[in-house]
This record gives sequence, structure tokens and C-alpha cells, in this order.
Amino acid sequence: MAKKTILTADRPTGKLHIGHYLGSLKNRVALQNSGDYNTFIMIADVQAMTDNARNPEKIRNSLIEVALDYLAVGIDPAKSTILVQSQIPALNELTMYFLDLVTVSRLERNPTVKSEIQQKAFGQSIPAGFLVYPVSETADITAFKADTVPVGDDQEPMMEQAREIVRTFNTTYNTDVLVEPQGYFPPKGQGRLPGLDGNAKMSKSLNNAIYLSDSADELRQKVMSMYTDPGHIHVSDPGKVEGNMVFTYLDIFDPDQAHVAELKAEYQAGGLGDVKIKRYLNEVLENEFGPIRARREEFAKDIPAVYEMLKQGSIKANEVAEQTLQEVRNAIGLNYFN
Ligand code: TRP
Repeated sequence: MAKKTILTADRPTGKLHIGHYLGSLKNRVALQNSGDYNTFIMIADVQAMTDNARNPEKIRNSLIEVALDYLAVGIDPAKSTILVQSQIPALNELTMYFLDLVTVSRLERNPTVKSEIQQKAFGQSIPAGFLVYPVSETADITAFKADTVPVGDDQEPMMEQAREIVRTFNTTYNTDVLVEPQGYFPPKGQGRLPGLDGNAKMSKSLNNAIYLSDSADELRQKVMSMYTDPGHIHVSDPGKVEGNMVFTYLDIFDPDQAHVAELKAEYQAGGLGDVKIKRYLNEVLENEFGPIRARREEFAKDIPAVYEMLKQGSIKANEVAEQTLQEVRNAIGLNYFN
């Protein structure tokens, strides 16, 4: 059977946190190591520009942080092609052709983009590039002929839009050069990590995240600050486990679930203090993320080597994208000189 092709991407607007790890990085490493896929992993700096055009140093700095996060979690450049979006010129040309096959009103209806526009409070000043970023994602996916796109379930509208563009392209130009992608979603209820403060989502802007690059001290301080049960004042008080972030995290990260069940029973009965369970959670998280942090520190010792890895991945990706672009030009008939 022919190998399937995966494309995944992250916008470099900061360091990656353990929510990214749980929701996507961990899964990517598993898919990479399965050997069943050609894997392309893109650092989407051009997409990050769509709402950071006046702050490119943030993106430049984040690029290397994200690359280090990838290497730290076990994304292996010998198995996965790690590429930088801005270094693949074909993506821009593909985007231009695709833009002519969607309407502005269709873009305005994309629910994911709609809610992001709300969140970002652009008001009347939505950057045009932001509105059309689903079209550029379609270029990202199709340039590598990816059939499988691992994303969170909020990204289904992107996949739908990408499929529409692919179908419209193939029908309009009577071709089959473009491949329709399918989203590859985490199992229901899995993959989303709440923030330290109990907010449903861990995110940089909410200041409730644990980063893969956090030191052991930072990790411990963050665990100690976690939201538990505000009604649990004295150690002897019965405590609530539901909505208590320490137990939510233990449910997710502790391999010893029998022990978690015992701790819950003890906590609910009264007699187990927050400091104690937080110390225990810190140990659990340290076991999972300590080795990742150590690997990250190793890779960070040789930043030029990390840039070289990105360069080699981008060169390789560029060849694939150029090939697709030629096929696209041929399909449209914009191949005057060959
Ligand atoms: N939108 C994605 C994010 O915010 C990044 C991305 C860019 C992407 N191009 C893509 C995701 C193509 C899937 C497919 O992280």
C-alpha cells in the first residue's frame, strides 16, 4: 500500500506548552514513528504574519523556540521533514490560484475564522491576509499532496474549505493533480488540556500555561499555583475532585491510575492537603516533561545546527512543492515556455 502523507503545522507566535504536547505533538511523534506516513511538519511563519505583520521579531524568535520544542519531544528530522513556510515560494503561487476559486462571502462564513476574528477584536480592520488564511492552508496541504491532516476538532471547517477548493480546482481544470485531505482528529474528549486556572483552554494569552521549556522551578511554582477546590480550606475538610485541576491533570498524566483513585477517595473524605497532592502532581509531570526539558537544553546548545536542520528540511520540501506547482500550472495551462 502506498504510504499516506501527513501535513501538520504550528504558527510560531510563542513557545509550545504542554497543551500542545497533549493535543498534537505527542500524536505526531507516534504517527512519525509508526513508519506508515510521509510526514511534513511546517512552521507556519507566513500564517503567523497574518496578525503579526508589525511584529516580525516575535515570529523570528518563536521560530527557533518551536523548532527546539519539536526536537525536544522527539520529532526526528531523519523521519519527518520539518520545514519553514516562508522558504517555500510555491505556496504563495498556489494560494493565488486558489483565491480565485473561493468567494469572499464563503471565507467570511468560515466558523473558525469568524470566531478568531471576534477573539482578536480586529473590528473593521481585519487584515485581508488573515481572512484568506484558510486558502493558504489549502496550499500548504496540497503542495505536499497530504491526504491526512492531524488537527483539533475546531479545525474541521478548514478541512471542509480545503476539500471544496481541491474539488473546484480539479473540476474546473479537469485534472486530478490535487488530493482531497481528511482531518485526523483526536478521540472525543481527549486532547484538550485545561489551563492552570481551570479555564477550559491552556493558552499563552490567558497566562495559564506550562511550557515545554519551563525549568523545574517554574514547573513546580506553576503546579503549586494551580486551581483546586476553593472550598477546601483545612486539610481535614472534604475536598472536591471535579473541576479540581490537580486531579484533572493526574487523570491525564499519571500512569498509575489506581493510585489516582485512592488519592481521590482520600481527598473527598477529607485529610489530604492541597500541598501534598500538588507535590505529587509535580513529580508526575517532572517524570513526563523532565526528559523533554533535558533534550531541549541539549539541542539549544547548538542553535546553528537547528537552523541547518530547518534549512535542509525546507530544501527537501521545496522540491516537492515545486513539483506540485508545475503540475498545477500545467493543469491550468500556464505553461507557455515548456
Ligand atoms: N492554522 C494552524 C495553527 O494555527 C497552522 C497551519 C498552517 C495549518 N497551515 C496549516 C494546520 C495547514 C493544518 C494544515 O496552528
